[in-house]
Amino acid sequence: MNILKLKKIRKHFNGVLALDNLSLDIKAEGITGIVGPNGSGKTTLINILSGCESLDGGTIIIDDSLRSKKMRAYENSIFGITRTFQEIRLFEQMTVLDNVLVVLTEKNVLGAIFEKHGEYHLMKAEELLKVVNLWEKRNELAINLSYGQRKLLEITRALSTDAKIYLFDEPFAGLFPEMIKTVMKIIKKLKEEGKTVILVEHNMLLMRELCDEIVVMDNGKLLSKGKPEEVLNKKKVLDVYLGK
Ligand SMILES: Nc1ncnc2c1ncn2[C@@H]1O[C@H](COP(=O)(O)OP(=O)(O)OP(=O)(O)O)[C@@H](O)[C@H]1O
Ligand SMILES: [Mg+2]
Repeated sequence: MNILKLKKIRKHFNGVLALDNLSLDIKAEGITGIVGPNGSGKTTLINILSGCESLDGGTIIIDDSLRSKKMRAYENSIFGITRTFQEIRLFEQMTVLDNVLVVLTEKNVLGAIFEKHGEYHLMKAEELLKVVNLWEKRNELAINLSYGQRKLLEITRALSTDAKIYLFDEPFAGLFPEMIKTVMKIIKKLKEEGKTVILVEHNMLLMRELCDEIVVMDNGKLLSKGKPEEVLNKKKVLDVYLGK
């Protein structure tokens, strides 16, 4: 089943067509990788899917519902979408624990106000932060974490949402090998749980290992799509990467 159906979507910035009539179906319950040279439109695609940028043309169907062109990021939870950013976004002046609790409690605002679910949220935050080795750092301000720890915290915030669709924009970039292993485990577990993961990443070794399907973008268009071993060996894909 295709959980996402994009038909001729378009986005331009001052005359630059970042997405150029892109049509694409994405299967549910698996990992789809998005690759392509710098500036090929990968982040714009994630921004459009998560409502961080508005659409100039075309349609997006999520789980059989037509999504409004004007969908905004705060409506993500309606569609069961969550994301991380290529440039990390956290509540810098809040503690590690509060960065996670804010997301966990947001799901049940009334409960959070009356602190009905306080203990449950704390237990969940502990469980999630332990996976990324940040529980010991729970009282540290986000701004004081290392780059890699900040990335892991952002991923933890995404995992706190209980979404169906996870959009990760270069989650491995700048991480040490141990942290890469942790993020790989997280992504594989999401798949096991029947979630849909869309992963933008330049590291092809990781993409080959993780992805069920790979989408190659070039100049805002779809260049190729299929199984990693097929797509990543195609001449036209290699040419785009080598700049021919
Ligand atoms: N907010 C913006 N304002 C103006 N131009 C933009 C904006 N966002 C993206 N672009 C342009 O749109 C095109 C696609 O950019 P995008 O960030 O989606 O590429 P990308 O594939 O994510 O690249 P990278 O691999 O470097 O992250 C580029 O030409 C970029 O300069
Ligand atoms: Mg990008």
